[in-house]
Amino acid sequence: MDVTRQLDETARELRDALTRLPRTLPPRWLYDDRGSELFSRITGVPEYYQTETERQILADHSAAIAEITEATTVIELGSGTSDKTRTLLDAFTAHGLIERFVPLDVSEQTVLDAGEMLSERHPDIEISPVVGDFTRHLHRLGEVASSGPKLVMFLGGTIGNFYVEERRAFLGALGDVLAPGDWVLIGLDQIKAVDRLIAAYDDDQGVTEAFIRNALTNINATYDGNLDVGNFGYVPFWDGRQERIDMRLRAEEPMHARLEGLDLDLDLGAGEEIRVEISSKFRPERLAAELHEAGFDASRGVFADDDDDFALLLAQRR
Ligand code: AVJ
Repeated sequence: MDVTRQLDETARELRDALTRLPRTLPPRWLYDDRGSELFSRITGVPEYYQTETERQILADHSAAIAEITEATTVIELGSGTSDKTRTLLDAFTAHGLIERFVPLDVSEQTVLDAGEMLSERHPDIEISPVVGDFTRHLHRLGEVASSGPKLVMFLGGTIGNFYVEERRAFLGALGDVLAPGDWVLIGLDQIKAVDRLIAAYDDDQGVTEAFIRNALTNINATYDGNLDVGNFGYVPFWDGRQERIDMRLRAEEPMHARLEGLDLDLDLGAGEEIRVEISSKFRPERLAAELHEAGFDASRGVFADDDDDFALLLAQRR
């Protein structure tokens, strides 16, 4: 991969996202070191139920997932610290077929650290980290050799960050890179009472707000910009038609900013907003239908908690 070209692509993508209306941001800008730390704090605030719920579902059903899939290679997209993965690898190890674990993440340091942590705990599993962005580099998974079925995990509800068209492209690419008989396990946040959904993205301690604002701080730092981060209001709301939480930053006053590294002048009118992130919520059947369209048999299992707050959807490439 030519790094210069990749940087240019990232810059171009950001420039487009900020200039086209409605203004948006690619999610990657949320996850610099500070953003990753803030996200990890979000997973511990009382309003944010998802991480703990998913961990519990994995703890309860990993053995079944190992048994159903008989996967010898487990791949995790956007693996981060591979925190929740430990439980799953324990169950796969006990089941006895797993040979290799492939964490894929944009942050090289993160995948290497996670790999090291997991090698210690699972000396019999070959850990093969891949540095990559799951929206661009899924084809790299085609090079992963496997003696038996592969299982690709996409956890945390991250699928909710995609717009509908992006999600279709992502699932399609996944279908393309996998062989018949391979598996995917996708974590999704379920539709539930609106007050709980909003609270999860507007916590009392303001950690989510700080996380969303940090995307602009990150952009300023990366592209020598002067966006006045403190002069935006945080506007999270539930879009019932699109069934997603929409997290925006609103310029309270008319604002001018220059992003030197993007050669971009931004003029925002009073009240103008940048949509920083969306987090779509699902009925499992809806995602199952989209998976079917992408070439999967999505009737292989839905694992959820008793309250149906979160779910893991298991699907097999047809
Ligand atoms: C990591 C994408 C699952 O959408 O819930 C948390 C990110 N944003 N709070 C989510 C997030 C604001 C999170 N995901």
